[in-house]
Amino acid sequence: MGNREGELFAVSRRCRHQLGDLSQGTIDADGCLVCPWHQARYDVTDGRMVEGPKGFLGYHGRTPGYTELVRGYSQVLKLRVARAVRRGAEIVVHRRDAS
Ligand code: FES
Repeated sequence: MGNREGELFAVSRRCRHQLGDLSQGTIDADGCLVCPWHQARYDVTDGRMVEGPKGFLGYHGRTPGYTELVRGYSQVLKLRVARAVRRGAEIVVHRRDAS
């Protein structure tokens, strides 16, 4: 769960690349959630990876081809997205498939 310029959002916690902890990620200038490990970027409204990772394992840098490959398979394995609503002092998360 996060806060993008005052707008709450809720997405699954593990990056689709190498399971980086997205709860430690940041929001960039475009409003995308950025993974702290290799900076893959996600659209928090639909869970799509909009830019692939810049590295793998302990390497951080350009990975031509690999970056696009990961982004490609992540189009099938999107982050789960839920609706987060503030109710008084609590924040309630509603799964999209729940009524
Ligand atoms: S684990 Fe998230 S970009 Fe690599």
